Amino acid sequence: MKRAILTLTALAVLATTAQARTWDAIKGSGTIKIATEGAFPPFNVLEGKKLTGFEVTLAEALAKELGLKVEWTTQPFDNLLIGLQQDRYDFVIASHGITPQRAKAVDFSNPHYCTGGAIVAKPGGPMTAADLAGKSVAVQVGTTYLENVRKVPGVGDIKTFPKDTDAQAALMSGRVDAWVGDKFTGIDLVKAQKGKVKQGDLLFKESIAMAVKKGNSSLLKELNSALEKALNNGTYAKISNQYFGQDIRCR
Ligand code: ARG
Repeated sequence: MKRAILTLTALAVLATTAQARTWDAIKGSGTIKIATEGAFPPFNVLEGKKLTGFEVTLAEALAKELGLKVEWTTQPFDNLLIGLQQDRYDFVIASHGITPQRAKAVDFSNPHYCTGGAIVAKPGGPMTAADLAGKSVAVQVGTTYLENVRKVPGVGDIKTFPKDTDAQAALMSGRVDAWVGDKFTGIDLVKAQKGKVKQGDLLFKESIAMAVKKGNSSLLKELNSALEKALNNGTYAKISNQYFGQDIRCR
């Protein structure tokens, strides 16, 4: 009994004093722990029990390059960077745009793709930032879409959803006038809905990167060099083409 209590206390202490795993510790363990959301097609998607998507395939290629196995964790988007602070995994790949605010909390890798936030609406609906005045807009919570839609002068009601796919559904069911989300996700939505919605203007551009715990420079260096190799040896181009029919690297 006494022993069990001691063990629990020790665990609690360990949990609160745990440090981010350095590159040496990760390499030594043979496995890298990666977190994503799993609800952001075509970037990271959980299909049944299988994680797929551009970022999942890319991260697995980087791990292979680094000689590591992968242990995946999925978390709601809004929790991902918090879990990183708590050392629950080594890095996050979930389409985070590099922003000054996020860069205060985590360290970002070099970008693994470049994109933007685009407006999507039904025909006759808002297609430009100016059109959004007085209109209701659906966005995923905790995202750069929310941050940027808030800046649109005169924008109407902004409705936030835990998942991006729920924000899209709100547009389709007519609960909002527009959805703002990733440019590539929007292209897929337009295709899937066979013209029931149209993509409008880009509201903003962003560079997307992986995040490590603040200060974990040894891991960051290895991730950046694996990404650099993938960008140069054809691996990145192949994966990007598989998901987008084009190379979406930053240029
Ligand atoms: N690019 C946007 C941002 O940086 C959205 C990312 C959403 N990612 C996701 N896995 N749901 O906030």
